[in-house]
Amino acid sequence: MSREIKVQDLNPKSFIDEKVKEIRRVVGKGLAINALSGGVDSSVVTALGHRALGGRLRSYYIDTGLMRQGEGKQVVDLFAALGIKVEIVPAGREFFHALKGITDPELKREAITQTFYRKVFKKLILDSGATCLFHGTILTDIDETVAGIKRQHNIFAQIGIDPQKEFGYKIIEPLVELRKDGVRKVGQALGLPEALFNRIPFPGPALAARVLGEVTPERVRIVRKATTIVEKILAGTGSFQYLAVLHEDRVTGMRDGKRVFGMQIEVRCWESLDARIAAPTHLPWEILEKMASHIVSKLPEVVSVTYNIATKPPSTIEAV
Ligand code: XMP
Repeated sequence: MSREIKVQDLNPKSFIDEKVKEIRRVVGKGLAINALSGGVDSSVVTALGHRALGGRLRSYYIDTGLMRQGEGKQVVDLFAALGIKVEIVPAGREFFHALKGITDPELKREAITQTFYRKVFKKLILDSGATCLFHGTILTDIDETVAGIKRQHNIFAQIGIDPQKEFGYKIIEPLVELRKDGVRKVGQALGLPEALFNRIPFPGPALAARVLGEVTPERVRIVRKATTIVEKILAGTGSFQYLAVLHEDRVTGMRDGKRVFGMQIEVRCWESLDARIAAPTHLPWEILEKMASHIVSKLPEVVSVTYNIATKPPSTIEAV
């Protein structure tokens, strides 16, 4: 079990120095690799790994086809500004192929996990000749995995892969003694921009967590566009998280004077401290109206926009 470094006891500069030494010792003269999503944890691991290894850490952004508008380019540009090269790996076809015909939420999540680790990432690792893999696991991930809340920590063990045995590499988890607040402090000390830490949470399965029913390129395109609108309009609310969900059921609507069987978008906007419990933000009616009118005007397929008013629990933040 990892020891915890509490944020009040954390000296980010000495933490970084210590980790840099440790990483150099473990990696030796070898090559290391990591997948970067643009979230806080993987971004901090990337910056820390590069501080230790420079170009001997290869960082990849895996484009699953499920990310938000312009997300890959944003991540690449952000790291380019820090002198860190991130390569985009296009993998949308693999993910959509794996998701084809699946409507069950847990099976969808499983398909994404398996495709990410067993197919796309495994190939990258094997092709690169890397001997070490950096992972942005934090202490909270471990606690939540142990408690059965999440199933994401040490994903290889969970899907039955022993990385050392199967691929011949080690996993390095430099942030495993920290919680989110500590990770932020280390990230700031590494020179990551403030904007990165203010971003609202975004789930691992990305927009697939917001598509009810089958996840197809077309349905992801619709929820992506709605997400852009919702994020833009709700950016100033200070809410914990806000998102758009595409429903599976259709409803009758009117377009160009004709009855159509159209799609439904649900908007969610949450007040929460740590995502364990949450309540909908009391959004002003004008904002709700503005969102609905932007969504139906930019997305001709959509005829209904609703706002979720149930709390978590029994709701969850994401829809899948
Ligand atoms: P739920 O939907 O369970 O989400 O209320 C709680 C918080 O976790 C995020 N979330 C995820 N984050 N991988 C992640 O890294 C996931 O599979 C995942 N699923 C949900 C969600 O966005 C919310 O902030």
